[in-house]
Order: sequence, then structure tokens, then C-alpha cells
Amino acid sequence: MNKITIAIDGFSSTGKSTLAKQLAKKLEYVYVDTGAMYRAVTLYAMENGFVEDGQIDKDGLIKDLDSIVLKFVFNPHLGFAEMYLNDENVERKIRTLDVSKNVSQVAEIKEVRTRLVALQQDMGKDKGVVMDGRDIGTVVFPEAELKIFMTASPEKRAVRRYKELLDRGEDITYADILENVQKRDYIDSHRETSPLTKAEGAIEFDNSDMGLVQQFERIYEHVLRVIEKNQ
Ligand code: DC
Repeated sequence: MNKITIAIDGFSSTGKSTLAKQLAKKLEYVYVDTGAMYRAVTLYAMENGFVEDGQIDKDGLIKDLDSIVLKFVFNPHLGFAEMYLNDENVERKIRTLDVSKNVSQVAEIKEVRTRLVALQQDMGKDKGVVMDGRDIGTVVFPEAELKIFMTASPEKRAVRRYKELLDRGEDITYADILENVQKRDYIDSHRETSPLTKAEGAIEFDNSDMGLVQQFERIYEHVLRVIEKNQ
């Protein structure tokens, strides 16, 4: 069977990673969460004095990029790969609201993007990969056989994120989360380098009112058709 590349883009908390993980598991493909990479660089910036009063010292961070080593290590108990920053497992640390508040500013930096895009292209060079992010279908793999663009209303997305963070014991309010979702939507889709847009040929999927099972069934059917067409 020829393997394909599946590129999933969309706004934050649209369920991209849930879908990507489900697809990767079913197809026995590799899953790459590119948001985790931008989050890990952001964590590095926060832990190394490059963030002050919500402002990123971009020049300082750029100079330090060579000191940042990112690696995904597969966790067989969880069934997916976890993010390591300089040999430390940072899966939990990168999912906090504090990191979410700074990550869009880091993701705007051209030098950061160039580096991460090169790593992502290398991870997907043999196909058989499901990659999710904001620029996968437009920049990282514009030739992907299947591109999916996910959307959902900001309110629905904020509720999902709010529940997730509450479950993890974070002390947050729904209003804070909604504000962060809307702010990131704006920055992610208006930045100069690789703004979030629907890639040419992408299928758009709005899951505001759809359950996970129904969503997976609909998309998986489509995936099988694309795989068949590429044999
Ligand atoms: O998917 P996420 O919410 O974990 O992503 C975190 C941030 O990283 C998001 O606000 C935008 C940025 N990002 C990006 O610019 N390009 C990607 N390919 C993935 C994420």
C-alpha cells in the first residue's frame, strides 16, 4: 500500500490533534503535533529569560535557537509521541495557559518557523504521516495528498479548552480562555509569515455540532477514498 501525507490545519482547539491521533492509530501512520514544537520553543523562551511582561525578546531567542533541541519520543502507554525539550519531557508544561498566552508571538518569528518547518519536512519525508498545525497544507507539505481544514465556533472551542484545563487542575476562568482563543485566532491568521489560511484543495470541516465518533467516521471514509486513489 502506498502511504500518503495527511495535513490537518485549523484554528486552536478545533480537535485537530484528537482527529490526527485517531487517524494515525488506525492507519499505523506517524502523528506529528507541530503546535507542540512551537509550544516547546515558547517554554524555552519563558524559562530562559526571553519573556518579560508578556513581551518576547525576539533577537535574544533567535540567537539561542541552536541551544534548543526538540524531539518526539513515542510513549507506548499513551499510544503517541511526547515532546522533549533538551531531553526533558515537557508534555504537561507546554499545555498550560501561560504557554498559550505567549506562543503566538513566538510562532510569528520567521527564524523559528524556518527551523521548525525544516524539521517537520524531514519527519514527513517518507510519507505515512498525519501532521497537524496551522501551515501544514500551505507551507510544510503543499503537495500532501489529503488536506483538511478544521473550524468550529470560538465559543465551542473555548468550552472544550476550558474543560481540558480544569481537568488538569489549572486555576482559570472561561472568559480568560475565550479571550486567549480569540486573540490567538487573530494573531495566527494575520501574521506576516505563513498566516493560517485554508490551503488550496483542502476540505473544510466544521465540527461545532458534531461528536468525535461521527466526525472520525466521516473523515476516515474520505481518507480511505484518497488512499485508494493514490495506489
Ligand atoms: O495547535 P496548538 O494550539 O498547540 O498551537 C500552538 C500555537 O502554535 C498556535 O497558537 C499557533 C502556533 N502554530 C503555528 O504557528 N504553526 C503550526 N504549524 C502549529 C502551531
